[in-house]
Amino acid sequence: MKKSKYLTDSYHGENWFEPGGWQELSLVAASVKTGIFTALYREPIGAADLARSLALDIRAVRIVLEALAELGYVAEATGLYSLTKVAVERFGDPLARGYLGWAVLHSSRLVERWLTLPQVLETGLPVPGDRFSETIEGFIRAMDVYAGATSMEVADACLTRAPEAKTVLDIGGATGTVSKVMSDRGLSATLFDIPEAIEVIRAETEQSYPTIDLVGGDFNEALPQGPYDIAFLGNVTHIYGPEKNQALFKRVADNLSPGGLIAILDFVRGRSVSAAFFGINMLVNSSGGGTWTKVQYIDWLTDAGFKNIEIVDIEARDQQLIMGRLD
Ligand SMILES: C[S@@+](CC[C@H](N)C(=O)[O-])C[C@H]1O[C@@H](n2cnc3c(N)ncnc32)[C@H](O)[C@@H]1O
Repeated sequence: MKKSKYLTDSYHGENWFEPGGWQELSLVAASVKTGIFTALYREPIGAADLARSLALDIRAVRIVLEALAELGYVAEATGLYSLTKVAVERFGDPLARGYLGWAVLHSSRLVERWLTLPQVLETGLPVPGDRFSETIEGFIRAMDVYAGATSMEVADACLTRAPEAKTVLDIGGATGTVSKVMSDRGLSATLFDIPEAIEVIRAETEQSYPTIDLVGGDFNEALPQGPYDIAFLGNVTHIYGPEKNQALFKRVADNLSPGGLIAILDFVRGRSVSAAFFGINMLVNSSGGGTWTKVQYIDWLTDAGFKNIEIVDIEARDQQLIMGRLD
């Protein structure tokens, strides 16, 4: 069970400011969005020059810099501000491996979505504005931050069960976090995602991982024709409802080799403490998404012809990997 902050006696005590909560998120997201971090990464700069160069208000910039300094993001010396060492790693170069800016912007957009919950409760539908309002690039690069934490464990679990595998289909693979790890392990990977996402990452992937096959399409319509030895579905089953997931698993089975492995990474309801909360996340962001139980996964997989179904907990994140094999 999650611990509720608002049900503890200390809520109005010394922690009321909650520096790690929504205030810090808003402050950091604003610093990413307005370009403050990028400017400070480029070179040390005074508050007035920073405000001028970004066309921001000087009083606002001074107050924000003070708060960022208090939290350890920036340091000031002789009137010039710069990012601290740890902030450089996390908020310096947007294409660096440890960059967190995309994920922070995503979280801050989710806050806006969660604030619509009263309306969603009335209508049962997300308020207008699509899931990718932060731009597809922002969304898939944020996903890469989360997937980066789990990709090694996912690859280990799959390849322990299917050591003979030569091909993998990464369904809804976004920036190809798992495709790249599988490719490093000698498999031939096909990254499948919506065409707009594929176009965002095409140039960089063709340069850094030319062997990854990039295919755009809609997995609710069709999948690239197999057979593949492994199909990986990372965080895609929470996007759509039971009927679509059931149909997708059948489509996966049709494109796997005999004995092929399906591996699904998601929050399993009843097993992941985050699953109920993530259900809200999908409620405010989609018309049919949610988090699903072990029984639902087993039913859908069995119905699609999978056997030896197992669910393992992922150590790096409060998620599970659900796996099954075709005969
Ligand atoms: C939540 S992200 C997960 C990305 C990555 N697999 C991970 O685990 O972080 C879902 C991905 O599925 C893609 N996607 C959603 N609906 C799709 C569809 N109908 N057909 C193809 N890709 C889709 C999105 O573009 C996005 O890249």
